[in-house]
Formats: sequence, C-alpha cells, structure tokens
Amino acid sequence: GAGTGSGGNASNYPNQNITFVVPFSAGGPTDTVTRMIAEPMGKKLGAQIVVQNVEGAGGTVGAGEVARADPDGYTVLMHHIGMSTAPALYANLDYKPLEDFEMIGLVTEVPMTVVARKDFPPATFQDLVAYVKANADKVTLANAGIGAASHLCGLLFQSAAGVKLQEVPYQGTGPALTDLVGGQVDFMCDQTTNTSGQITAGKVKAYAVTTPERVKSLPDVPTTTESGMPNLQVSVWHGLYVPKGTPQEVVQKLSEALKVALADQAVIDQMAKLGTAPVPATDATPEAHRAHLDEQLKTWAKIISDAGVKAS
Ligand code: MLT
Repeated sequence: GAGTGSGGNASNYPNQNITFVVPFSAGGPTDTVTRMIAEPMGKKLGAQIVVQNVEGAGGTVGAGEVARADPDGYTVLMHHIGMSTAPALYANLDYKPLEDFEMIGLVTEVPMTVVARKDFPPATFQDLVAYVKANADKVTLANAGIGAASHLCGLLFQSAAGVKLQEVPYQGTGPALTDLVGGQVDFMCDQTTNTSGQITAGKVKAYAVTTPERVKSLPDVPTTTESGMPNLQVSVWHGLYVPKGTPQEVVQKLSEALKVALADQAVIDQMAKLGTAPVPATDATPEAHRAHLDEQLKTWAKIISDAGVKAS
C-alpha cells in the first residue's frame, strides 16, 4: 500500500489520495466492484481514490501488504470470501484476518456462474458432470489462485463430482475469462460481475448459477440445485478493510462513505446489471462485517477440511 504516514491526524482525514488495494488483476470481478464504489466514496470523502492491483497467491499477497501498511486510512483493502478461506488453505499465512485488520463494512454478495469455452462438448450442467468424470485427466479448470473465490467454487465442484481436475491458476479471473473466451482453458467458476457480459454476448457457455434462486439478470441459466448439485452453493461476499490500529474516526468516515456509495443509484443499477446488489446499510458497518468474517472463518474451515483439503 502507498500509505506514507504523512496523512496527518484523523481529524483532518482525508487530506491526500486514498489507495484502494485490489488483490487480483485489473478487469476482474474484485476490481470491477471496487471501481464501482470508488468514485462515489471519493466524492463523499473529498479525496481521490486510486485503485492499485496487488496480485498473487489467490489474493493473499495484496491482503498481507495492506495488513502491514500504515494504519492512517490511506491504504484500504477490498477483499472477498477469500479472507475467510485463506487460513484453511495457507499453512504460513502472514496475516491474521480478525487481528490484523479493522473492518469497514460489507459491500455486496455476488453469485457465481459455472461457465465454459463456447465449443466445450457438454451441453448441460448434468452433461458437464458426466463429461468431467469420464475425462478428468484432460479437462482444465481455471481459477485465480488458491484461496480465490473461483478456486473455492472449483474445489466444491470437484468434491461434489468426485473428481480431481487439472487447475490452471491466473492472477485474476479477468485474464482467466479472456483465455476461456479464446478457448485456451475448458471451464471455470466465476462471479456474475465478471461473466455476465460474455454470457449475454454468447461468448461463453453458462451451465449454472451457484445461488438457491436463479439470477434475475441471467434468467435462462439454471441453478446448481435444479441441475442436481445442490451442494455447489457459494456467493462471494466482499468487504473493505484497513490495517489494525487505524483511528476509529477514520474507520467511521470510510464506513459512512461506503454507505453513501451503496445507496448511489448508479451503483445499484450497475450491480443489478451484473447480477448482484449492495448489502443493506446495516451490513456496511464494522460490527456487521467483523461478525460475518468471524462466522465465515469457522464455516469455511469446516467445509474445506470436510472436503479433505489440507493447508499447504
Ligand atoms: C476470485 O476468483 O477470487 C476473483 O474472481 C478473482 C478476481 O477478482 O479476479
């Protein structure tokens, strides 16, 4: 992060640009959600928000950098469900989610889609499951690195289908989707905030959405439950963080600005177009975010260990 500590004290915060760190590649879903809220948040705060992509290791490199940034409110992390799965997947994680960050608030919870390259043989989700069982050694499954939401969804898919596929890691699902459209990789589990455009344009095949109900903006895509795999249900919640020790006055100013952004009609409309929606204002608070993260850490530790996956 770019926090220089020269941000002065909390009372005149902000008096310089604020860096929002996205721990995945530009052009991916995390980046997309961040840029959506950065503009209205910056307006409310009276500061320029600069988005910085710090890639690597399924989002853990960027998260670690922000954990060690100056706690002055000038380095903010946008992260998602990966904050709650990393401790169960990385043996030597260099940050502790609940101890090394102040939470600002939840942002949005995004459905996932199971998508494939246009000419991948399976026609339906059921065909996909049969196909991967018969061709496990040949099928390639893209993700954004261990701990990414795409990796987690891929894990759940393989566990439910009883297969182990060849995973192809990218620095984000932005570049992964480019390769999928180009036919370089077979299929992927990725967020509607990234795949909606390519699905609607018919550039990729959409087999299912991983939510209990169909996604309004993708009405023709069946749910995994309708498709015979009810266990594959995962939505990607996102939240904002600053380093532990950031003054409460700064945390509150950021949380207030987040609430304003989530009530911004342009943000609401853009999220709806991409299959998602802002969280209610009561969830865009430090308390709600911390409680959610605490519960998610426990939930995913159990699911990951039940799937027989060890931290590495
Ligand atoms: C993920 O798979 O965690 C995200 O989709 C990665 C990204 O935002 O590129």
